[in-house]
Parts: sequence; C-alpha cells; structure tokens
Amino acid sequence: ELGTYRHYMQKEIFEQPQALGNTLEMIAGGNTISPQVFGAHAGEILGATRRVLIIACGTSFHAGLVARYWLESIAGIPCVVEIASEYRYRESVPDADTLVVVISQSGETADTLAALKHAKSLGMGKTLAICNVPESAIVRETALRFITRAGPEIGVASTKAFTTQLAALAMLTLSLAKLNGRLSDEDEARYLTALRHLPVAVGKVLELEPQIEQWAQRFASKQHALFLGRGRHWPIAMEGALKLKEISYIHAESYAAGELKHGPLALVDKDMPVIAVAPADELLEKLKSNLQEVRARGGELYVFADAGSAIEESEGVHILHMPEHYGMLSPVLHVIPLQLLSYHAALVKGTDVDKPRNLAKSVTVE
Ligand code: F6R
Repeated sequence: ELGTYRHYMQKEIFEQPQALGNTLEMIAGGNTISPQVFGAHAGEILGATRRVLIIACGTSFHAGLVARYWLESIAGIPCVVEIASEYRYRESVPDADTLVVVISQSGETADTLAALKHAKSLGMGKTLAICNVPESAIVRETALRFITRAGPEIGVASTKAFTTQLAALAMLTLSLAKLNGRLSDEDEARYLTALRHLPVAVGKVLELEPQIEQWAQRFASKQHALFLGRGRHWPIAMEGALKLKEISYIHAESYAAGELKHGPLALVDKDMPVIAVAPADELLEKLKSNLQEVRARGGELYVFADAGSAIEESEGVHILHMPEHYGMLSPVLHVIPLQLLSYHAALVKGTDVDKPRNLAKSVTVE
C-alpha cells in the first residue's frame, strides 16, 4: 500500500494534489459555486447567515483559524473560532442565527461532537460539518455537510485532511460572499481559477522536498524551535509547530510575529531556530522587521518566502522561495513545506512517524 513511500505521512503529503483535485470536483464545471455543495437546502441557511462560529480540535482548529481571515475579509461575516473542549464547557451566549461549523477529519472526535451537541442544545440549529468521513457521528448531527475527499488518512499527523478542509472552507467563504453580495462575478471567476489550479500549484511546492530535507538535517538536533507568521499565515505557523512537536518531539512554539517583542524574543539565541512563514503579502515588510529582531539576537532563520520576494540569504538567514505567490489561498501552499520539514526532522530523529508516542488517530475519549 505504501508503494515507493516510506511512511503513510509521506504518502499522504504527496497525495495532496489528488486529494485537492477530488475535493474540488464539486465545483468542476461552471463559473459559480452553488450553495448546494453544502446540501440540498443550503441556500436558505447560508443566505441567512450573518455570523459564523467554527468549532474544532488540533489541526482542524487551525483550518478554522485560517477560514476566519477569509470569512471576515471576503464575505464580510464575523467569525469566531473555538477549541471544542473549551467551547463545550464554558458559559457562552448562544445566537440562534449563527451558523455553527464543525471541522473534523474523522468525524468521531469526542470533544467536537459534544461541542456540536452543546451548541444545538443552546438552540443553534444551523449547523454544517466539514468532514472527511461520510457516515461519521458528527456528519449525522448537522443540517448541512461538506465531505472532503482526501481519502483515508492513516498517519496520525493530519496533512491531506487539513488542505482539503481549507479548500472546503474557501468554497464556503465564496458561497457566503456571493450570497452576501460581496463578490463580483470577476472576483468569483478569479478565485475559482485559483482554486482549480491548486493541485498543480501544490505539486510544484512538493518538488521543494530535497531542499527542505537539507534544512531538516540542520535543525533536527535542536531542542526548541519558534514558528512565526502573520495574518492568515499565523495559523499556518501554528500548524507547523504542532506538526513538528507531534512527530519529531522537538519543542516548538508559534507566535503571531508582532507578538515577538512582547515576550518570546527573550527565548531567541543561537540555539533557537526560527521558522518564518513569509509570503509576499501586505504584511511582508512588517514581518521582515520581526526577522531582523531575531537575527540581531543570533537566532538562525529559516524563511519560507514567495517567488519574487526581495528577501536575501545571508549569514544565518536561509531562504526558500515558493514557486508562486498565491494570494488569499496562499495558506494552502505554505503549510506544505512545514509538513515536509517536520516529516524529515522526524526521519533524522528516528521517531515513529506514523504512530507518534502517546497519540491516537481518532480521539474518541475526552
Ligand atoms: C494533528 C492531528 C490532530 C487532529 C485532532 C482533531 O496532526 O491530527 O490535532 O487534527 O485530533 O481530529 P479530527 O479532525 O479528526 O476531529
């Protein structure tokens, strides 16, 4: 089953073009995203949506955090993202008109399922599941659903499920933006073209593996690592840190880059590699000054920049240029090198990549 791959995680990372292609088949033809990809009566619920509450755990939570940036900037819809195990136990203020979106690869995560039931018990009946398993417990509980077509994910560390969740959330954003009158036909066409091109774009990013492998060799001996990002790439930095700790057991933390000087900068010295997600977006200049702060303290930088970005290699500053800049959907591309980085760091360390210690694929206990 593994074919030429050494681990399921590696196989699943490389299956992402296919997984995305399959997931995007829902919007194969035409120049508009029908709300019906979320269910037969989705138009009614989505058309009335004025707020979104996203609930999930772990990597799926990170997908939700990316979606928040999309939903607010493109669809103009306020969005809150919560960790399921927090939401279900806190006293929150319910709002019957809020669309509750639960994201789960397995559809069986106990906390996510319980949080969904909790929201429903508070009178929030407009619910949507984004899930990779069609007949799962979570999918059976929601009014609307989108089934990602990542195929079975066997490695404990989630990879292709994450990028297909992002594709689904991008479609949800566009659908809501359209219903909201916030999306022109031209913009919709542009986004659709970018979505459909994702499998090819991801394929090109995967070709960077040899260079990432070299980087992994260099910092696999470190005890700690810091991941920085801004805006819609902050959750990508979070996901990079989660992947690294989960399979290589290197302690990793992530911060919104602007928070650096509010505390974590104290950690930076020559033994603290800093990984920066640095796409060529409106925040790049800000990020660059954060990187200088790191360099000034002797921290070694590993920067994932975009094609054409004016960031240069220098002593202690390693740059990897992504093949293309991808605008709004850029988080889908920028997570790929971070998946590869943690995979190769784990290989160097000799950990059990597909079954990291203490973890289970599907967390059906609380
Ligand atoms: C990390 C990972 C976990 C899951 C989390 C939620 O690589 O896989 O953090 O994302 O346990 O699982 P699902 O998405 O099945 O609800």
